[in-house]
Amino acid sequence: MNLFDVYPLFNIEIVKGKGCRVWDSAGNEYLDLYGGHAVISVGHSHPDYVAAVTGQIRELGFYSNSVTNSLQKQLAGKLGRVSGYDDYALFLINTGAEANENALKLASFHNGKRRVVSFRNSFHGRTSASVRVTDNPAIVAPVNEGMPVTFLPLGDLSLVENELSKGDVSSLIIEGIQGVGGIQLPSDEFLQSLARLCSRYEVCLILDEVQSGYGRSGKFFAHHYAGIRPDLITVGKGIANGFPMAALLISPMFKPVHGMLGTTFGGNHLACAAALSVLDILEKEQLIANANEVGNYLMEELATLPGVREIRGRGLMIGIELDEPVKEIRRRLLFEQRVFTGVAGAHTIRLLPPLCFSRAEAGEALARFRRVMG
Ligand SMILES: Cc1ncc(COP(=O)(O)O)c(C=O)c1O
Repeated sequence: MNLFDVYPLFNIEIVKGKGCRVWDSAGNEYLDLYGGHAVISVGHSHPDYVAAVTGQIRELGFYSNSVTNSLQKQLAGKLGRVSGYDDYALFLINTGAEANENALKLASFHNGKRRVVSFRNSFHGRTSASVRVTDNPAIVAPVNEGMPVTFLPLGDLSLVENELSKGDVSSLIIEGIQGVGGIQLPSDEFLQSLARLCSRYEVCLILDEVQSGYGRSGKFFAHHYAGIRPDLITVGKGIANGFPMAALLISPMFKPVHGMLGTTFGGNHLACAAALSVLDILEKEQLIANANEVGNYLMEELATLPGVREIRGRGLMIGIELDEPVKEIRRRLLFEQRVFTGVAGAHTIRLLPPLCFSRAEAGEALARFRRVMG
């Protein structure tokens, strides 16, 4: 059997990781400014994380959601405290798409409405409802097309009000910072106004923090900069440092009904052990403050490179928009300078390093960028 060939691959196999560095099968060392697509939060193979995951699998890797799992309760308590959402409830799933899928369903169960407002250039995942609210027709299959969705430009409040005031909108979904869309930040004022409008027209506000959450922006959630409290918040990627896990934070206005949501694997013992360890390390090593500080330093320095049109981002979620297409520069960074980066569109390099990325490593990365772009 062959693999179903849907991924354009670099011909590199990563076989080892430590902190913010990875090694390929030929023994070459790379600086990881991509974090496996924003997934590695506390660093590759952190010793406390390795101990927590291996310790848990020795005891019990998995049992179903038909029995009590105190690790889930511990995680809910700790995540509630660290994120500032103590009064919210937690539902655990496996992927970011699934988190958004469940958020959209819960909103619709709650208010009985169907239409969703989403934004241009958004990405929310590839399952049925999540892909429908993603602004990329190329990945929406005919079976996904049933749900009514309206896409609006990011930042246009009067268009939002015009749609919400029609009375048939169940939820409005927005990324804390648009990732795939090119590191586009909704302004704090725009988010504050969305929260006001959603509450006025009884529309559930869903904040997709799958990529921008868990400390990546320099605060626990990117929407913390705006000081709003969304009705539903979705997280994934960094939550378990590479163990597949995602979560939905649910405001107290939603009432659970047995059987309303469910999953086989979501919140399993191993995933919870990994996620608890991530929160411990984030706190112990103050990685959110680190993301803020090192991110600011990186953004200031990157702005001085030749050919840079604009630097956008917060914390360690950074977009470098260039005058020229980025393909060749990324290729040289990877194969000549051994730096992994991400991309968002033809002109934007995306940086999503682990949150433990140090100032010294940032300096090293900048020197390698200068060799290619200078
Ligand atoms: C903002 C956002 N939402 C949702 C997703 C989907 O997450 P997953 O690939 O885990 O389903 C992604 C993935 O890149 C994302 O960036």
